[in-house]
Amino acid sequence: AWVAGVVGSPINHSLSPVIHNAWIEEALLDAAYVPFNPPPPAFRGFIQGLRGGAIRGLNVTIPFKEEALALADEASDLARRAGAANLLLFRDDGAIIADNTDGTGLLAALHVQAEYRADAGPVVILGAGGAARGAAAALLEAGAPAVRVINRTRERALVLARQLGPLVTGFGREDAHVALRDAACIINATSLGLGGGPGPDIDLGLAPHAAVVMDMVYKPLETGLIHRALERGMRTVDGLEMLIRQAVPSFEAFYGRRPPATINVRALCLETL
Ligand code: ATR
Repeated sequence: AWVAGVVGSPINHSLSPVIHNAWIEEALLDAAYVPFNPPPPAFRGFIQGLRGGAIRGLNVTIPFKEEALALADEASDLARRAGAANLLLFRDDGAIIADNTDGTGLLAALHVQAEYRADAGPVVILGAGGAARGAAAALLEAGAPAVRVINRTRERALVLARQLGPLVTGFGREDAHVALRDAACIINATSLGLGGGPGPDIDLGLAPHAAVVMDMVYKPLETGLIHRALERGMRTVDGLEMLIRQAVPSFEAFYGRRPPATINVRALCLETL
């Protein structure tokens, strides 16, 4: 059997096994997708131990994405630019290859749920951590004319802007109105709103009504931010769609074929959310 999996800490609520195993079953593959939860200090040893062995690849989630990139022998441009890997592939010759499909998932979700294209206008990203960096890198790569990063700690937004180049500008929350004024898309890349609650403290009234609002948080599916956007009649995109779309290229890398289109994994995920 072809074995792949996902590694994170915690991992017990991950939807990736639900998605991949449903595709495996539907496609009648002799394969398995297994969750792994090593203690964080053991991550490096865990990955090194898989070199050239029985596992074809792993998705990587919090808190291991940066470390996964660092310990790989080779990395795709996407992973390098994102500063993180959500996909490790174990080649037969023992090499570990890092890739990142989160950006692809983000762009696909925006396209599928809102027909949004990266070149449509300036994008505002809330947060300046790893998720924000990955989103900004993917949007720039896909042709976003400008990315504005708003962060509680303004300095971190400025650092990210400096690293990602002249199309990216950093803002503190007090200057949100400047960043939002001409936004075509607003993306929450903080963990605010996870588990319910109001989500990021941002006034959507400061943005054009035509702006698309996306939340990378998907528990609950309708986060506080998405709820406020819907109340205003704005178009929204959810983090579950991003999760499912990043799984597609991962599945292809593990099992050498596209996921079957005959099963609705979104509906399955909604049952478990
Ligand atoms: P990740 O790598 O998952 O993106 P991170 O690097 O810890 O996680 O970044 C978390 C982001 O959420 C940061 O932008 C953080 O803002 P700070 O840089 O000011 O810490 C933001 N964040 C977390 N809790 C927050 C809160 N209560 N209010 C506002 N922003 C918050």
